[in-house]
Amino acid sequence: MIKVENLVKHYGDVQALRSINFEVHDGEIIGFLGANGAGKSTTLKIMTSFLAPTSGNVYVDNLNILEHSLEIRKRVGYLPELNPLYGEMKVYDLLEFTAKVRGIEGKNFKKAFSRVVDQCGLEGVIHRPIADCSKGYKQRIGLATAIIHDPKILILDEPVSGLDPNQIVEIRELIKQLGQEKMVVISSHILQEIEVTVDRIIIIHQGKIVANGTSQELMSGFHGKVQLTLEIKNATEENIKALPEKVANITLLNESKVNDHVALTLEYPKEKDPREALFQYALASNWVILEMTPHRAQLEDVFRMLTIEGGADA
Ligand SMILES: Nc1ncnc2c1ncn2[C@@H]1O[C@H](COP(=O)(O)OP(=O)(O)O)[C@@H](O)[C@H]1O
Ligand SMILES: [Mg+2]
Repeated sequence: MIKVENLVKHYGDVQALRSINFEVHDGEIIGFLGANGAGKSTTLKIMTSFLAPTSGNVYVDNLNILEHSLEIRKRVGYLPELNPLYGEMKVYDLLEFTAKVRGIEGKNFKKAFSRVVDQCGLEGVIHRPIADCSKGYKQRIGLATAIIHDPKILILDEPVSGLDPNQIVEIRELIKQLGQEKMVVISSHILQEIEVTVDRIIIIHQGKIVANGTSQELMSGFHGKVQLTLEIKNATEENIKALPEKVANITLLNESKVNDHVALTLEYPKEKDPREALFQYALASNWVILEMTPHRAQLEDVFRMLTIEGGADA
């Protein structure tokens, strides 16, 4: 388990992290989401003990990051944001070098090598210089170096950013597979890139955590109101006007005429679905219903609302 406690980081005058708290449990895949400059990379660098916090602490399996940074690095695999690889090196040589730095040599290296080649699908490029590999392969190679020591925790900073849609799907699949046996934290500034991969989403905005939950939890805690489109024929002005009185819990937001029918936008509290009452009212008024569609808030709306200027406080 990882526990992030009251984490603060200042770079000179810049307050990058303003006391953040969250936990990640074994077996979880977490999406760490926030706009550019929100503080994602700073948090991940501190969690991997590459950067010291100004104050606060991180515990990895109850080990304090300040006192046990070496032990923690053994348990954690980290893919930094720009995935810095040595282009002129061949894939095999890079993996051998990375393993050696971690003290994995000889027989142990052979084992680790075939494991990561298998896990990351690198068979085709083992003897190729990294510079000649595609962006998708470079990302796989980065992942292979991050897991060469078979860590139980994997921390990936924007692992799919800059990839084309097919490569994104491939790397997502790979991360999902790795997530079956490891705790994974993936950061991104684009919700859609990680939404389908993760179990839980933590949103950071201007150095503060503004949301933490499954996508369903984030949405349910957010929009209390549902908007509904109702398209009807044969309606008179009077019975449209009477609608909010006759059907409980609805507000008429907008009315527009489209050819021979009327489109209404109605709003109601999420827990008070008025569709049955609407149907009955339509029947009693001799309306023909052409469409009745509730529009639920999308996770995208939640993310946008929480990460626009001042949005988190609103
Ligand atoms: N080495 C640094 N020196 C000064 N400011 C920095 C440094 N690294 C990051 N920052 C600032 O800290 C804030 C958070 O940055 P970062 O953690 O990289 O955000 P993210 O990864 O979410 O884009 C930003 O305002 C950024 O400009
Ligand atoms: Mg970053």
